[in-house]
Amino acid sequence: MLAAIENILGKAVGLHGASIGPASIMRAVRRRMEECQTMDDDAYLGLLRSSSQELQALIDEVTVPETWFFRDLEPFRLLAEHVAGQSSRAGQESMFRVLSVPCSSGEEPYSIAITLTDMGLSKDRFRIDAVDISTRILARARYAVYGRNSFRGDEGDARDRYFSQTGKGYELHHAIRDSVDFHHGNILDDGFLPGSGIYNVVFCRNLLIYFDRPTQMKAIAKLYRLLVPEGMLFVGHAEGGCVDHRLFDVIKRTGTFAYRKKPVSPADGESKPVAHLPVPAPSASNTISKKFDAKAWRPGPSPIPARIDNKPVVFSVSDAWEALIKEAQQLADQGEIGVARVICEDYLTYNSCSAPVHYLLGLVYEAEGKIERSREMLQKAVYLDPGHYQALIHLALYAEQKGNMGAAAAYRDRARRVMERNGMGVARGRS
Ligand SMILES: C[S@@+](CC[C@H](N)C(=O)[O-])C[C@H]1O[C@@H](n2cnc3c(N)ncnc32)[C@H](O)[C@@H]1O
Repeated sequence: MLAAIENILGKAVGLHGASIGPASIMRAVRRRMEECQTMDDDAYLGLLRSSSQELQALIDEVTVPETWFFRDLEPFRLLAEHVAGQSSRAGQESMFRVLSVPCSSGEEPYSIAITLTDMGLSKDRFRIDAVDISTRILARARYAVYGRNSFRGDEGDARDRYFSQTGKGYELHHAIRDSVDFHHGNILDDGFLPGSGIYNVVFCRNLLIYFDRPTQMKAIAKLYRLLVPEGMLFVGHAEGGCVDHRLFDVIKRTGTFAYRKKPVSPADGESKPVAHLPVPAPSASNTISKKFDAKAWRPGPSPIPARIDNKPVVFSVSDAWEALIKEAQQLADQGEIGVARVICEDYLTYNSCSAPVHYLLGLVYEAEGKIERSREMLQKAVYLDPGHYQALIHLALYAEQKGNMGAAAAYRDRARRVMERNGMGVARGRS
């Protein structure tokens, strides 16, 4: 029973059974079985496999929604500094965008909204997207009424300034609520927040620890794609080891695990600007700025907080991507096809002219049974690198399978010429 449930949860949401703990999983299952009025393991497994509603209910039960306002405080200070540092390069048209995933019952994204408001950003200068897989917890986030337990951190006087005490609890003011858009989503879904280079800052805290290593890599590749160049990523205290240092620079700062997306040089082919903000200096009355360590905080022309630690900026990320692609190759060899595909697809949004990655993606699609897409990728590989021997041979095989012997012969002929040109060794595709 436990193994079957772990398998279902792993496939649906990437949750790693060992990190949640077998006892917690089984407690959640028993609660759901009671709710469904069945004591029969097989009947419940059948229900779980056939009903997405029941799967969602079990996910809601098994996920850990633990969170509170200004959890760990330091990430919010650093965020405030980041915003303050951008003020000198502000443009009137820019919008500051933050993603909070997972957002749980809303304390984290609302803390971000309070931080930005306290920094003097008006509502129309920033947007926060907040995503969680649990529909139940999202309903609580939208309700935005909190008990004392949500204020166990160091939120300063934020509760007095932004909440009204009512019979139901502490009700968040609409001005803050309205700056957060909540979405139901699974960070591991292929369709999760399409697009790239969208967010200036991503908070992804206390989720990665529940994933196994390949799943962590898949999530990190997605977050990398979603950030603007030099955008900031915050992870939880136990999650520093989950971040790929080839893609992110550490921002050295006690009390927070923060990273900066490695900037890309023009030679790397990406030139999206970082949004800069019109921000007034922090007011003396604001919660966050009152907690600033003036010595550590040096607002200046640099918009990048990581430069506070005087680390030289790395201007190329291509080595990091190459290493990641090697890992994707290994993962594909080990049968981790889905993770390999996400890495390749994300890579192609960064560099769409790589023949080897089109070729690898062609093999991955083939393993997934997506033959037409596989053929398309192999053709692109050959278009980008006419001397790509393996792709030519593969295309010849596809043509033969379709009974198109003329095309097959043409591909084989081209492959033979590549062979001859490159001597008698096995010809290899160029990067
Ligand atoms: C411990 S809370 C973290 C909340 C907040 N980030 C913080 O650090 O305080 C973990 C949340 O992750 C959500 N979650 C679990 N798997 C997820 C997935 N695959 N995609 C999105 N959210 C997920 C759970 O529903 C839960 O609300």
